[in-house]
Amino acid sequence: MARLLLGVSGGIAAYKSLEFVRLAIKAGHVVRVIQTPTSERFVGKASFEALTGAPVLISEFERDPARGAFPDQTPPDHEPISHLQLVRNADLMIVAPASANTIAKLATGVADSLLCTAALAAPCPVAIAPAMNNQMFLNPATQANLATLRERGITVLDPDTGQLGSKGEWGVGRLREPSELLSACEQLLARGVPQPMDGLNVLVTAGGTREPIDSVRYIGNRSSGRMGFALASEALHRGANVTVIAANVALPRSPHVTYVDVETAAQLQAASQEKFPSCDLLLMAAAVADYRPSDVADTKIKKEQRTLALSLERTDDVLTSLALQRIPGQTVVGFAAEHGDGLEAARIKLARKDLDAIIVNDISRQDIGFDSEANEVIFVSAAGESLIPRATKAEIAAAILDLVLQLRSAPTAYASGSTLST
Ligand code: CTP
Repeated sequence: MARLLLGVSGGIAAYKSLEFVRLAIKAGHVVRVIQTPTSERFVGKASFEALTGAPVLISEFERDPARGAFPDQTPPDHEPISHLQLVRNADLMIVAPASANTIAKLATGVADSLLCTAALAAPCPVAIAPAMNNQMFLNPATQANLATLRERGITVLDPDTGQLGSKGEWGVGRLREPSELLSACEQLLARGVPQPMDGLNVLVTAGGTREPIDSVRYIGNRSSGRMGFALASEALHRGANVTVIAANVALPRSPHVTYVDVETAAQLQAASQEKFPSCDLLLMAAAVADYRPSDVADTKIKKEQRTLALSLERTDDVLTSLALQRIPGQTVVGFAAEHGDGLEAARIKLARKDLDAIIVNDISRQDIGFDSEANEVIFVSAAGESLIPRATKAEIAAAILDLVLQLRSAPTAYASGSTLST
């Protein structure tokens, strides 16, 4: 549990800060919010007050009914200066969204709002999550301000590229997803505190391989890499050194993870062979092609014939060959996408591939899996099965790692049939 002070500045992305607060509280943190007057034009303070259960402050001269205390604290007898007391009590201050204007003020030390004064006085770590139009973000003035803030030890949670708030606009400047902001905050808070996966080398494969047919076409699959990236992010958050072998994944990346990009099953195999010997835990979440075209045309195949037959050959089973090479202390976890109830098939794969655990999900369901933010899986090991009910991929990743850690500490100790509470 941590005390998070959220500063909200003006921008359409302010609505996402409500979700950030909801997730932070759900994760057990306590939150206080301060807003700039402009942000009130986008989101009213009543919403933040309802979620946090604490007053929201906007002006420096406003009396704080909670006297700078967080919801878990008893307010002091005296009336402290709000901005000083709030930052003193906070474990971390995050400004999300951070507008171009607020970033400029923070970089130059302007203290004309409660948010800016609080940031200037903060003894705790400060993170900012910029969100704005792409031209504003890429403007040298904004970039110089961000560079200044980075130099001064402020963590900048860079925005994503994609659809922007204003209709029809696209580019870099989207506020990072609230769940990612929370996990970045938790990583900052975790620095220096012993973590359950400290020093553990975790290798994750993610995404889906593509097998070329000719110079422009390939046989691929629908895996987005979201589950693998969620596992990587959770392992990182728990202190692990994380390497991700990413097969065609177009998702935001962490500066604290090592990525090896691959396209084909053969490239994934070569990269996995190289990285596997130094890992303690392999999470094989990638969808690896089982077949590839036997002959790849050097140029683009012309549509000269009415039908076209492709001859396919089997690829190697990467996971099986890695599991065969494992030494004591290495844990090998596979994933199986099965149509319908795949439990029996998963048990068979667990034995056939000689795995420590296999995680199975039902790809016939539309509400989970491919391209979805959600998943529902069954964790299968020699000790039994655990259903991890439908939840976000970040929550599923956390539950999977809990079970993997239990497996590593006592291979047959965890109870069969336990469930994740959501
Ligand atoms: N896998 C692998 N190499 C392959 C195919 C699969 O390493 N060529 C890995 C996947 O990354 C996954 C696990 O094996 O972790 C299970 O994949 P799956 O395709 O479900 O298993 P298969 O043994 O290929 O069984 P099926 O007959 O159902 O395709």
